[in-house]
Amino acid sequence: MNLSVIGTGYVGLVTGACLAGSGNNVICVDIDEEKVKSLRAGDIPFYEPGLDDIVKKNVKEGRLSFTTDIEHALKSSFIVLIAVGTPPNQDGSANMDAVLSVARSIGQYMDDYKIVVTKSTVPVGTTEMIRDEIKKSTNLDFDVASNPEFLKEGAAVDDFMKPDRVIIGVDKPAVGGILKELYSPFMRSGDRAIVVSIRSSELAKYTANAMLATRISFMNDIANLCELVDADISEVRVAIGSDGRIGRHFLFPGIGYGGSCFPKDVKALISTATGLGYDLKVCRATDEVNTRQKELFWEKIESHFGGDLKGKKVGVWGISFKPETDDIREAPSVYIIDKLISSGAEVTVHDPVAIENAKKHFGEKVFYGESNYDACKNADALVINTEWNEYRQPDFIKLKELMKGHVIFDGRNLYDPKRLSEAGFKYLGVGIRS
Ligand SMILES: NC(=O)c1ccc[n+]([C@@H]2O[C@H](COP(=O)([O-])OP(=O)(O)OC[C@H]3O[C@@H](n4cnc5c(N)ncnc54)[C@H](O)[C@@H]3O)[C@@H](O)[C@H]2O)c1
Repeated sequence: MNLSVIGTGYVGLVTGACLAGSGNNVICVDIDEEKVKSLRAGDIPFYEPGLDDIVKKNVKEGRLSFTTDIEHALKSSFIVLIAVGTPPNQDGSANMDAVLSVARSIGQYMDDYKIVVTKSTVPVGTTEMIRDEIKKSTNLDFDVASNPEFLKEGAAVDDFMKPDRVIIGVDKPAVGGILKELYSPFMRSGDRAIVVSIRSSELAKYTANAMLATRISFMNDIANLCELVDADISEVRVAIGSDGRIGRHFLFPGIGYGGSCFPKDVKALISTATGLGYDLKVCRATDEVNTRQKELFWEKIESHFGGDLKGKKVGVWGISFKPETDDIREAPSVYIIDKLISSGAEVTVHDPVAIENAKKHFGEKVFYGESNYDACKNADALVINTEWNEYRQPDFIKLKELMKGHVIFDGRNLYDPKRLSEAGFKYLGVGIRS
């Protein structure tokens, strides 16, 4: 099929590349000229394992191209997938400016029947708004569909190629059939397409993210209680995860969820409900607990130093909101590092891939360690924000020699407290005995 994907970010580029990989002709469109220029030069604008190879292969084989010219892309496409950003407004609602601007362009430039698919995460009713917006400028026939994306940054290619499910929201079975066919190469082991109404599809995406975020906040809440009752969240986690109804996934406590999806999607869902006069109490609590979680972690650091971090040297491991991505949007680390800076600490950060994005945010307010050990030289403390694999089994003897003070604040509970105490460290995690 001939496709265009509008918006070439984490979702759009993965979608475009993987759909080209299954034999479609895909034109990826973005308004960011620099991004398109670098993609044309073969540079991937962000870190995503496995993406580089699949983009290069499909460009080389002539099935994938990049442009800023939406008119050109539309004229050659039967299906148009919208994958632009939907960032939060000040009040937490989702900002639809980019989505609606794309809809206007589609109405303006379409020259033939198209299926317009919303892949961006959008509030219920948006796909119908897109239809109305397109209709304002064309009399040509077209259909709309909702097909929210469930990939995870850091495993995006794999998630797209082997989806747990593909949600397709349509108001015409024939359109559902075409989209199922588009995804059929990724479901050869069994049909995992779930065809529902457009509104249910839009809401399913928010519900999934809110549910996952709620599990995290719930475990963080219980982890905080563990500290008060001298229980250990690691033991509680294993104990409850063995219950088949609960399951083992998404039970790890920490300094809260971040990234470009969970925080904004929970807030947008609350905003949708509020607009309809309904109070989504569970989601509100999820959001509040998440905000409090990083504040509590910071309080732990601050109180260890008696409220005075002026001149203290602090090494920081991990800036990205989770491992295997360079995305630092809404990362709890950013809050913690900003706090360290404003309290007068001298901060040296390390992250395996997110340093370029960190430099854009922190500039020269922090130092950048060449290695994770380098970040700890003469440090009074080490703060861990992200559970990168390479931080899991460090050389504690080397670390102890390098550091001036021997305290580790671990926002991801990577280590065995007993072992750390034997190695001579004061070790403060989240909801664990220290
Ligand atoms: N990142 C994820 O893990 C993820 C997962 C599932 C769903 N989503 C959703 O997918 C959508 C996109 O997310 P993302 O992380 O890929 O965003 P992103 O910020 O990485 O990329 C968005 C891209 O859209 C481009 N863009 C903006 N306006 C445009 C326009 N008018 N025309 C063409 N291009 C335009 C931007 O330049 C940018 O390159 C969001 O709604 C997000 O919630 C994201």
